[in-house]
Amino acid sequence: MQIIKNILPMQEAAAKAKRKGKTIGFVPTMGALHEGHASLLKQCRKDNDISVLSIFVNPKQFGPQEDFANYPREEKKDCLLAKKEKVDIIFYPSMKAMYAEGYLTYIDVESLNSKLCGQFRPGHFKGVATIVGKLLNIVSPDILYLGQKDAQQCVVLQKMITDLNWPVKVKVMPTVREPDGLAMSSRNKYLTVQERLQAPILYKALLQAKKAVTQGERDATKIRYLIETLIRENSASHIDYVECVDSNTLLPLKTLSGKVLIAIAVKFGQARLIDNIVLNIS
Ligand code: PAJ
Repeated sequence: MQIIKNILPMQEAAAKAKRKGKTIGFVPTMGALHEGHASLLKQCRKDNDISVLSIFVNPKQFGPQEDFANYPREEKKDCLLAKKEKVDIIFYPSMKAMYAEGYLTYIDVESLNSKLCGQFRPGHFKGVATIVGKLLNIVSPDILYLGQKDAQQCVVLQKMITDLNWPVKVKVMPTVREPDGLAMSSRNKYLTVQERLQAPILYKALLQAKKAVTQGERDATKIRYLIETLIRENSASHIDYVECVDSNTLLPLKTLSGKVLIAIAVKFGQARLIDNIVLNIS
């Protein structure tokens, strides 16, 4: 396993692989790796000749009041997980390498970036699109691997790739969960013991919503109310949003039909957790 810290050597390694006719799979992350990241790396290894993992805590996607400074940084542990998942190259750039002084250029996937989490995290998806765009130019992958846990991120990045004609395929992998249903996240580390015990209500509430839909409920207001009530009654948390939206456009639905994304964001103390399910409703 190679660790590359600068942009030019990474671009050269990618170009060399391409010249040899090898395919490149790419998993961008911010580190503090867990089994969710590992599932992306496993699929990447399976599908491609060369498997590239990037680790970069991207300051441009954190708001001024957010956790950039405290975001977990676990270089040694991450390297061990990467080795176990047979990663070929870890791209580990410095801040200066990614954002030289006077950096000015951004990618803004208009309107999609202001929905769901975008209402609460202004500028977040502009930061995400910009860094992933830069990484695509540096790593030149054939396939980009993303996790369904960050559903809006997947929609925004897929739209960016389509609109800007990047020759890369996107594979979205299912959300990996703890045994009690909590979606794995680097931010689960912020939960207190009490909050950790309460946090599985997010997925339980989503499953209750799914059950209600299976039993015939199609009213989005009722589904949202069901989820919000379950979360309020079973935790001391603050709900940012519970929304039922079209899974492609992220536009809110009144009546559930087609491919529906039910997405939630809830704050437990220091931890802002997100989760979602997708339902195919005929
Ligand atoms: P990060 O939160 O480290 O996540 C990296 C990738 O792992 C994302 O595609 C995310 O959706 C996926 N992932 C995280 N938890 C998961 C889980 N429980 N199951 C399945 N996949 C999971 O997302 C980011 O970093 C950043 O925004 C990034 C895209 C790297 C840009 O900076």
